[in-house]
Amino acid sequence: MAGSTKTSEPLMDGVRKEIDHWLTKYPDDKRPSAVLAALTAVQEQGNGSLSREQMDAVADYLGMAHIAVYEVASFYSLFDLEPVGRHKIAVCNNISCMLCGGDDILSYIEKKLGIALGETTADGRFTLKREEECLAACCGAPMMAVNGHYYEKLTPEKVDEILDGLE
Ligand code: FES
Repeated sequence: MAGSTKTSEPLMDGVRKEIDHWLTKYPDDKRPSAVLAALTAVQEQGNGSLSREQMDAVADYLGMAHIAVYEVASFYSLFDLEPVGRHKIAVCNNISCMLCGGDDILSYIEKKLGIALGETTADGRFTLKREEECLAACCGAPMMAVNGHYYEKLTPEKVDEILDGLE
């Protein structure tokens, strides 16, 4: 991944520890129940996305078929299966956000960063993820999530303040 110093090692010690913590919450014969927590740990403690090798390692650790882990990882938009930048931006464009100017916010971010949806800036700083469906913060529309943190009632000025403040 451009700009990252983190590792894409399949299952680092910290990840195994986190998975083991979650496994204590399920019966011994239900190890696959920890798959969401396991993939989250791999992504967060790694380089921000999931490689095939990492998903295979999770499957082997939990005793799951590899394809079953790919299905989970590709279903949830919180998981990224392609390399990403240090900061992941997801702009909501469902009905409330769209009616409150979500389209304009998205266009502003695209122009500001010089990238389109799904792209990463050349310096590896930002990835503009897909448009999100409702992120359940409609009263703060228009909104976006950056690295999972919500920012609401966005204006171009507020977007500048948020994005310019990130390393
Ligand atoms: S429509 Fe954007 S948070 Fe609900």
